[in-house]
Amino acid sequence: MNPDTNAVAREPQRVLIFDTTLRDGEQSPGATMSHAEKLEIAELLDAMGVDIIEAGFPIASEGDFRAVKEIAERSRRATICGLARAHPTDIDRAWEAVRHATSPRIHTFIGTSPLHRAIPNLTQDEMADRIHQTVTHARNLCDNVQWSPMDATRTEWDYLRRVVEIAIRAGATTINIPDTVGYTAPVESAELIRRLIAEVEGAEDVIFATHCHDDLGMATANSLAAVEGGARQIECTINGLGERAGNTALEEVVMALKVRGDIMPFHTEIDTTRIMNISRRVATVSGFPVQFNKAIVGKNAFAHESGIHQDGMLKNAETFEIMRPADVGLKETSLVMGKHSGRAALRSKLKELGHDVGDNQLQDIFVRFKSLADRKKEVYDEDIDALVRAQGAAEDALELTFLRVICGTEAPQSADLTMRVDGEDRQITAQGDGPVDATFAAIKGLVDHSARLQLYQVHAVTEGTDAQATVTVRLEESGRIVTGQSSDTDTVVASAKAYIAALNRLLVKRRLVPEGSDTPEINYRDVV
Ligand code: KIV
Ligand code: ZN
Repeated sequence: MNPDTNAVAREPQRVLIFDTTLRDGEQSPGATMSHAEKLEIAELLDAMGVDIIEAGFPIASEGDFRAVKEIAERSRRATICGLARAHPTDIDRAWEAVRHATSPRIHTFIGTSPLHRAIPNLTQDEMADRIHQTVTHARNLCDNVQWSPMDATRTEWDYLRRVVEIAIRAGATTINIPDTVGYTAPVESAELIRRLIAEVEGAEDVIFATHCHDDLGMATANSLAAVEGGARQIECTINGLGERAGNTALEEVVMALKVRGDIMPFHTEIDTTRIMNISRRVATVSGFPVQFNKAIVGKNAFAHESGIHQDGMLKNAETFEIMRPADVGLKETSLVMGKHSGRAALRSKLKELGHDVGDNQLQDIFVRFKSLADRKKEVYDEDIDALVRAQGAAEDALELTFLRVICGTEAPQSADLTMRVDGEDRQITAQGDGPVDATFAAIKGLVDHSARLQLYQVHAVTEGTDAQATVTVRLEESGRIVTGQSSDTDTVVASAKAYIAALNRLLVKRRLVPEGSDTPEINYRDVV
């Protein structure tokens, strides 16, 4: 018995958490992460107690393969899973990537609904044979095999039951039931799992999993209903990252099970105090910010601004709070330090916020902290977090050294900008439609590139007119996608630095990665 099946056999109320941020999340257009970022997120997922990490789709590209392999080689506690279509070559590639994990898993799938069967143009019998062959092949390589009938919730019941039985007979240890297009409703979700467990031959030998998409906003409810129906693995992503409306959000299902244990007597092994930190990291590296009123991890999720709420909160926090901010790792917004705080105080604050930085990085953050403290009256934890997230490294080829923007009611606006390019200062003046447009035009005038701006986003880090703005810029050039982020009390300066951070990454990528590398040669929907 593999360790995942074992865990549930030992404790029937235990729900395994299968995180697919690095596969289903990362494959959503624009959410591409760098190799180092994928390793970092995998490490955070492992540390927070995720049971299974779906680290990628190894056949999709050389980059995906390398990432899954390295995550597997570094794995500690979690099972590491690689996705494969119903092809022996896909499965071999996935096995090659995960085989050195402490606990490896192969996840193979095929679309079983009438619409999906039509794509490879297979009859029901031909597809059934393919399932038997590919699951057998996977199981000959690995004793932990997950099989998914993609679009299960729109597959005819008789055919679904038949192919699930075939997969179990061929050796699958987990059967995942995806609601690929976010179509199902909670009553159906519970009933489908209940019926599979009751009627499928061999059901008692496998774990049933639920994998929901959020197109109708029901992914969390559907996942929890599936657990009621007997599923013991929830597939989810941090912040609900995923294409279209996203996947089930890990933080939502985990906290729902924790807070409502009275009516849902199930538990996970997730250390919920790590939720906020990983949520912020995923938002940063994916370039997909979290909406302010998002459950659990939104900026406003624990804010009680209305007068009545505040009054109640002061008397008794439980009046309006069903969980404590500390349960998800959120510290009270606190005044950190002022301009007289030293390096040691900063190091201890960083540690408290979960950032383990080396001496060089500390020195860099300290310089930027001092400059911020000179400009901003009060420096909060969120400001310190933003300083850490802001990119910029000694080896960067491009660095902003001066920026003055002239703006007002009369267009055009103009930007006078100096940038260090490979150690040499270059100056330019450019005009544009607004201060940011003028600044970006100036940068483009100094660094020749054909990158397309895919995303430009501004967020205030804290309240007040002296708040820092965090700007995210995503660029795409010949299939290479890069994200840059920076924070400053001046939104235009933050914008310039974020753009330059993205360009620095692009320059590195041009050297290291072939054109088109971020556009996988194969997408998991190309089921042929
Ligand atoms: O949504 C889906 O069907 C998937 C499968 C590959 C499991 O992500
Ligand atoms: Zn999916």
